[in-house]
Order: sequence, then C-alpha cells, then structure tokens
Amino acid sequence: MAPTRSIILIGLVALAGPWVYDKYTGFGQMFLKNTPAKLPSMNAFSSYKVLFQDTIRNCEDAVIDEDAGMALLSCDPGRDWWNTVMGTFISSHKEGEIWSYLYSQIDVEDEALLHPLGRHGFPADREFHPLGLEYEPASDTVFAVNHASSGSGIEIFKLSPTREHLLWERTFIHPKVHTPNSIAAINEHELFVTNDHYFLARNFKPFSKIETYLGLPLGEVLYVNLKTNEVRTLARLGFANGVKMLNKTTLAAASTSGPDVYIYSIDPETKSLTQKLKIRVPFAPDNISVDSNGKLLIAGHPYPPTMEVVSSTNHEYDLDNANDGRKPASERPRAAGWIKEWDGNPEGKTRDLYIGAEYGTTCTAVRDVKRKMGIITGLYEKGILVWKE
Ligand SMILES: *[C@@H]1O[C@H](CO)[C@@H](O)[C@H](O)[C@H]1NC(C)=O
Ligand SMILES: *[C@@H]1O[C@H](CO)[C@@H](O)[C@H](O)[C@H]1NC(C)=O
Repeated sequence: MAPTRSIILIGLVALAGPWVYDKYTGFGQMFLKNTPAKLPSMNAFSSYKVLFQDTIRNCEDAVIDEDAGMALLSCDPGRDWWNTVMGTFISSHKEGEIWSYLYSQIDVEDEALLHPLGRHGFPADREFHPLGLEYEPASDTVFAVNHASSGSGIEIFKLSPTREHLLWERTFIHPKVHTPNSIAAINEHELFVTNDHYFLARNFKPFSKIETYLGLPLGEVLYVNLKTNEVRTLARLGFANGVKMLNKTTLAAASTSGPDVYIYSIDPETKSLTQKLKIRVPFAPDNISVDSNGKLLIAGHPYPPTMEVVSSTNHEYDLDNANDGRKPASERPRAAGWIKEWDGNPEGKTRDLYIGAEYGTTCTAVRDVKRKMGIITGLYEKGILVWKE
C-alpha cells in the first residue's frame, strides 16, 4: 500500500471522537497509573518459584495437557535481537525452541523434567522463531507461529508417540495471514488465528507503532482452513494478540492496545463471530488461556514504556553467561507483569492473581486445576514462574 493511502487511512480512523475517549480511558490511563513507582505488587498464590533460569528464557507461550501433566513452552532467546512484533531487527541468527516440561512432579526442581523437543524434518534453510503455540490433543498436532526472517507462517508438527520429539509436517503461509500471532485450534485443520497488525513492523515500523499506540482496530481474528486454504476475516480489533476458545461456542481474543479482551459467540456452521462482551483490563493484555473449569487467565504488560526499553535493550546484557563483554545481566532494566482471571461472569468482573516486576514481561499464564498449580511465562525473562494455589 502506498504511504499516502496509509496516512489517509490512519487519519480517518483517528477522527472518531468516542473512540479517542475510549482510548484515553483505557490505554491512556495505563501510562498515568501504572508507572513503576505507583504499581503495587501482589500475588494470590500460596507459594511460587522461578525455575530453569539458566536453561530457558524469553518464553512466549505455554500450553498444558492436564491429563499428561505436561506443559509445552515456546522460548526464543533470539528475541533480544529479533522481534517482529515490537520491531527489533538486529539479527535473526539465534533461534528458538519448543520445550516440554513434565510439571506433574513440581516439588522436584529437576532440569531433567525439561526437555527440548527439536524439529525432526524441519527445512535446514528455514529459521525458527516461535511465538504463539497451540496443541490439539485429539490429533497430537502442535501449531506454532514462526516469525522467520524469510516470512511469517504457521508450522505444523506432530508430537511423537513418546512425546519426546516434534515431527515437522509442513509450513502454512498465506498472504492474508501476514502478521500471525496466536492460534486457537477448532480441530486438526480449522483454526482461529490473529493477525496482530495491519502494518508489518519489518516494513513500516513507524506506522506499526502508531497503529499500536492509537489502538487502531486494524488487527484481525481470522478463520483459517488448512485443507481448503480458505482464510476469512471474522473480526477486527486493535493489536489482536492471544486467542482462545472458552468452549465450542465461545471465543476470547485479547486486544493489546484496547486494552480489552473480547468475548465472541461462534456460529457453529459458518464460524462467524458475534461480540458478546468486552472486558476492560488495566494493562496491555498479551496471552490468554482457559483452564479446565472454564476460567480465563489474562496475562499482560502494565506499563508499555518500560516494556519498550526492555525489548530494545535486552540484547546489550549478557543473559546467557557468554562473558562476551556485554553488560552484566543483573543490571538489565525490568518491566512489570500483571495476571488477571475472569470466571465467566456476564459483568466482566476480574480478579488479580499476580502483579510485580520480580518476574516481569508476563505474557502467558496457564493453570492445572487438578494439581492446583500454574505456570507464568515472561517474554524477556529467564526461566518460568511456577505457582501453587
Ligand atoms: C498465547 O498466545 C499465543 C500467541 O501470542 C497463542 O497462539 C496461544 O494460543 C496462546 N496460548 C495460550 C495458552 O493462551
Ligand atoms: C461457554 O462459555 C461462556 C463464557 O464462560 C458461557 O457463558 C457459556 O455458557 C459456555 N457454553 C457452554 C456450552 O458451556
């Protein structure tokens, strides 16, 4: 799209008055109320611990299989140098990995419970920068959004019967799936996928930032059919991020720049979405998950400016103990995290689970209801936070 047309588009959307007020009371208030000095620190856990700090870092997504007592984690230390969403493009050489964590024995802080799954059969010339992750247990399929420097797409893997390896099947690339972020699987071949932005940070960084900070509703929830190649836009929202099915007829999608979580009902035939509720949250929501009791966990970032500092400077600190002359890891800037829970009430009331900078940049929270525990990942953190209720 030509730059002039882009400017006209931004101008037109920005003219909407009520919408400006909504952005001020939502995204705007975060800048006033959530500064590091003002932000409280709390948690609703009986205990918690940050595990595996020297093995994994920069984990974006986590999904759990409660029956197996297993979590899958997508982690990419290379995000310090390469983040297509935040707009960091220094180098894409350092790649990410999907790990399995057999958490059912969480009292044992044992690195052997954490295991890289590899990518058997993955093309040698394709990079792997995993972001959103989805696991479809019925078919043992693992979907991962991959922000490779050659182009973003969805990688489709099968989990091996021993659950020790990922077997690559194929990459799905489609022009309408241009900024994929999150995946919710309806079944093995039908997905809901979010496009986080209209403007790609890698081609139009200033426009992409304007789109984020004005909360322009140019992100999308898509219907994607991997069999027929059909891709349809179902809904538009600002900086569309985590997407998850609460049940067969209800979908939740986070609008990071809202800051809101939208609840839609799903038409069983056409998969069209009808908005039922908009839950306003006091932070920029990133990932959402649903526990086996149908409660929605919303993870996010309370203060975007500190998040911007962390994402643009993390590569200057030696977080891998490489002793390569970079600044010590202990001096790196931090950005707080916030986790909320919605129990499904129609008023959209939520409850706080965690607020703090001790473990920050929180992007996903998942809970195992049976075992009364949960896991939080941090986009720029070392290790994962594991809590007990
Ligand atoms: C988290 O978000 C990713 C992408 O940001 C998405 O693919 C995934 O389904 C979400 N995971 C959970 C547990 O909500
Ligand atoms: C799906 O979840 C929504 C939101 O929690 C709830 O209102 C609805 O009753 C649920 N539907 C089914 C079929 O469980």
